[in-house]
Amino acid sequence: METIGIIGSGLIGRAWAMVFARAGHPVRIYDNDQAAARNAVALIAQGLADLHNAGLLSDTPGNISARITVHETIQDTLKGVSYVQENTLENERVKREVFSALEAAAAPDTILASSTSMIPTSSFAGHLNSKARCIVAHPVNPPHVVPIVEVSPAPFTDARIIKRTMLLHESIGQVPVLIKKELQGFVLNRLQGALLAEAFRLVEDGYISADDLDKTIKDGLGLRWSFMGPFETIDLNAPGGVADYCERFGEGYFEMAASAQSQPRRWSKSLVQSIHDERRTILPTDQRGERSAWRDRRLMALIAHKRNTEK
Ligand SMILES: NC(=O)c1ccc[n+]([C@@H]2O[C@H](COP(=O)([O-])OP(=O)(O)OC[C@H]3O[C@@H](n4cnc5c(N)ncnc54)[C@H](O)[C@@H]3O)[C@@H](O)[C@H]2O)c1
Repeated sequence: METIGIIGSGLIGRAWAMVFARAGHPVRIYDNDQAAARNAVALIAQGLADLHNAGLLSDTPGNISARITVHETIQDTLKGVSYVQENTLENERVKREVFSALEAAAAPDTILASSTSMIPTSSFAGHLNSKARCIVAHPVNPPHVVPIVEVSPAPFTDARIIKRTMLLHESIGQVPVLIKKELQGFVLNRLQGALLAEAFRLVEDGYISADDLDKTIKDGLGLRWSFMGPFETIDLNAPGGVADYCERFGEGYFEMAASAQSQPRRWSKSLVQSIHDERRTILPTDQRGERSAWRDRRLMALIAHKRNTEK
């Protein structure tokens, strides 16, 4: 079992620690805020208990926690580590500095991967001598529940590093997808961005309330999306498959795109405030934490359902 280094023990770093440790890997954590790192241990124990209660662990939470250790320096953390998952702030300068420190401390064949949501590998690793071992492995929150990982190499990333990263994530039960060319935001957030752009526009132009728009996804499109993507969806939505669907509806989609998405709009302060206010009448600020925990429990139940019924 490869030893894994986790750099940054916030929301995503803690979740990665659970993912790797539950698959049997020793995990070594570093955070430059030592209090955050110590706090991570209790939060990871809670996360593992939730996974256990949802029937998603094949080992005991105690055994899994025992594989996770916290360290005070990057040098100590990276001892024996062959794969690093970086989870510090979403800031190019911070990531450049962290990757310089990782390069200095890691063994030469250790993979250096980042969880960044939007920053291409070239932007934070292009200055390194050993940039060929750097790559993005972008998760979705929370990665201990949602399995997708966008593996996004730079043009300079070694093909063997790409393969090792894909295989590692597959072996721990995640679902890696390869982003073949670098682009800002990768694919998942670009899809989410396209949907959000249209959602903000429809609310701003008075077609629908924010709450009814949310219902359109959760009680409509989203039900299908938990087990099939948009291409499979349209393949099944016309008797003759994708080509038939596009024959029937392609022109309509073109007209919608021409009238909306070709003119990007900034989300104005007043629009954001009005949607924010609508959300707060439905979910007061002091209930957001409990609702996030509820979301994670619902996601775990959905994953358990998919595991038990899909094959
Ligand atoms: N939160 C999400 O939904 C989400 C989803 C996918 C990817 N990501 C990405 O994962 C990364 C981490 O996000 P997060 O939500 O866990 O953030 P977070 O703020 O919860 O955690 C960041 C942690 O990094 C630590 N840190 C900061 N600078 C450091 C340094 N120089 N060395 C070591 N530790 C350092 C902080 O002390 C903190 O504990 C970001 O790049 C983010 O874009 C986040």
